[in-house]
Amino acid sequence: MSSPQFLASSPLTRRTPKSRFTWKQLGQLKSYSTTTPLRVIAHVDLDAFYAQCETVRLGLDPAKPLAVQQWQGLIAINYPARAFGLNRHVTSTEALKLCPDLMMQHVATWKEGEDKWAYHADAYKHMATHKVSLDPYRTESRKILSCIKDALPEKFQRVEKASIDEVFLDLSAQVHELLLERYPELRGPPPYDDVTEYLPKVPTTVLDWDADALVSAGEEEEQTDPDWDDVCLALASEIVRGVRGQVKEQLGYTCSAGVAKNKMLAKLGSGYKKPNAQTVIRNRAVACFLEGFKFTKIRMLGGKLGDEIVAMFGTDSVRDLMQQPLEQLRKLGDDTGSWLYSTIRGEDHSEVNPRTQIKSMLSAKSFRPAINAFEQGVRWLRIFVADVFSRCVEEGVLENKRRPKTINLHHRQGQQTRSRQSPIPQGRPLSEQMLFDLAKNLLAQVVVDGRAWPCSNLSLSVGGFEDGVTNNKGIGGFLVRGDEARAMLASERTGPDSGPPPAKRRKKGNIANFFGPREGQKKEFDAARAVLMAKNQQSTSREDENADVDMDHIEDDPSDSYEHLHNDPAEDRRHTTPSPVHQDDLYTTGTPPSAQLDNRSDHHPPLHELGVDSLHDKKPVRQQTLETFFCARCTMHLPAAEKAEHEDFHFAMDLSKDMREEDRNGNSNAKTNQKAPARQKPSRGRGRPPGGSTGGRGGSEKGQVKLAFGRGRD
Ligand code: CTP
Ligand code: CA
Ligand code: CA
Repeated sequence: MSSPQFLASSPLTRRTPKSRFTWKQLGQLKSYSTTTPLRVIAHVDLDAFYAQCETVRLGLDPAKPLAVQQWQGLIAINYPARAFGLNRHVTSTEALKLCPDLMMQHVATWKEGEDKWAYHADAYKHMATHKVSLDPYRTESRKILSCIKDALPEKFQRVEKASIDEVFLDLSAQVHELLLERYPELRGPPPYDDVTEYLPKVPTTVLDWDADALVSAGEEEEQTDPDWDDVCLALASEIVRGVRGQVKEQLGYTCSAGVAKNKMLAKLGSGYKKPNAQTVIRNRAVACFLEGFKFTKIRMLGGKLGDEIVAMFGTDSVRDLMQQPLEQLRKLGDDTGSWLYSTIRGEDHSEVNPRTQIKSMLSAKSFRPAINAFEQGVRWLRIFVADVFSRCVEEGVLENKRRPKTINLHHRQGQQTRSRQSPIPQGRPLSEQMLFDLAKNLLAQVVVDGRAWPCSNLSLSVGGFEDGVTNNKGIGGFLVRGDEARAMLASERTGPDSGPPPAKRRKKGNIANFFGPREGQKKEFDAARAVLMAKNQQSTSREDENADVDMDHIEDDPSDSYEHLHNDPAEDRRHTTPSPVHQDDLYTTGTPPSAQLDNRSDHHPPLHELGVDSLHDKKPVRQQTLETFFCARCTMHLPAAEKAEHEDFHFAMDLSKDMREEDRNGNSNAKTNQKAPARQKPSRGRGRPPGGSTGGRGGSEKGQVKLAFGRGRD
């Protein structure tokens, strides 16, 4: 705090009769401006979240050590148990040695053949036949989110769900209102009605930070009187304390928070002191605060970009990087350099995006041992579908509030991962059976392509959620055409039973058997399949998919440079593996800070930004990131790994449509074949062309398509 003597002799001549901030900057708070220096953002993160969920559910004493178990590993450890040295890398057996009183609760699981998840006492023995369910934690997450919202006045609920256990709050407008209430001199009007005038000085030199962890600003900075930015943060911190109090009181959960002028700082702040604490980073403390960090801890700098910077400048410390002039950083590219320059100085103008709608859902299972038959796969599909459908119901599909547009199946055999996608018919109510039929068809497609077994991983996702028409459905809602119609027919043509396709039908190379003999469809699917098959033959190996996941991906705002994530990183930990390989599936979306960043293959926030820092300590570490791309034709985000295949799909469909039109017009095949290659095959920038041709580039690719198509029509 200030002292009159010091201020009199201070070399910093801030001791003007006025504030550093203008009336305009104050006014901007009300409209959630992302550029006003008075802005106030909070990040709230639940302490040891899954562990607390179990403590609350079971009504246990939170002071007793508890860990959440998944198979033989631990996925969440409460703070009393952390005191015994337990962390996420410890197996359940090791954990009990370190902490004999440890309560270990296994996550809920879906048991093969059952249609609802449950807490099974012996689940840890049944990794082969059970699948993890995070439903209980999602339910708690929803309750907490709504409690947090309810703790704020309705008109000020600007809350963004950032993952299963964290939210951002933009408290700017609420703080603006509080400021005016408590400091009548700020009600205006500004002198001469000029908003560029400076605000009056803060009438106090002492602010009440209560129990907050206040990041020190360094001796010099601490000497100056508080200004309105400090007051704003103190008010925001007061609000956050109230929010945390409500969550504790009503639901029994403790959480930690960071309060600062932007999302990046608030997020770093919430992890600064845990558990049950809140950290305030005043603007004057930003440099001091960030200096101590590795820049790889900052959002978007944990991946390849971070590595590149480390390699280029020989350091991972923010302090060192701050010594680099802007021109040096621009070696990374002008935009990236500028973005980096301001980011390490604590600048971040991304918005708090209150949309929290789920955009895709995924249910997955890794098989140890691998599965070997269609029937087995189908049994898992039943579980995936039940899982996904129950989540769809929560999203309001039954009331037609929202519904997914596509369904995807990923299948892994050896080093090869294949995906099949199909539109979900929109003309009739979504049902579990419909999803199941579609899923089964997708698996059938993989099976007829051959080399489906042994399968080590299957995952099913639905995506492209759209708002439905809830009443007075327009006629358009009942019309289905194109892909939708085909998918609908496809699903209708599959019998309701979950058995395998009859052996005699499982003739390799004739996908049409699964869809009935309709000529038009057959042609299209053959065309699509031919291209997809060719592509699969040159499919590159992907990272291990050893996760047992179910997760939702939240709607993103492309205008926001932050990625909006929902990470339910329930991961398989295999005690049999000497060094467990962890995998977190992250769907990342959002606009990177610059076009240059956009081109980087890894611009999503690092795992530790999501609180999964422990993954970085252990080798080997595999991070499978599911980046997405936007398909303008489907108007949806899809996993980036599927981009080439997806483009192939459209290409094949277009090609097939062209050919049908030609047929309809009575044109010859020769002409069709002349026309087809005129379509631009999407460039993949990788590998050899589909079909494994050894011929020249563009020509051979077209040739392959023609050839494959020709074959398909035989
Ligand atoms: N989680 C997980 N696997 C990981 C990381 C996280 O299953 N590799 C789960 C944890 O079980 C956790 C939840 O995701 O409860 C939220 O993760 P995070 O916030 O990182 O950790 P917490 O357990 O909540 O602990 P902290 O108090 O440090 O936030
Ligand atoms: Ca947490
Ligand atoms: Ca978290």
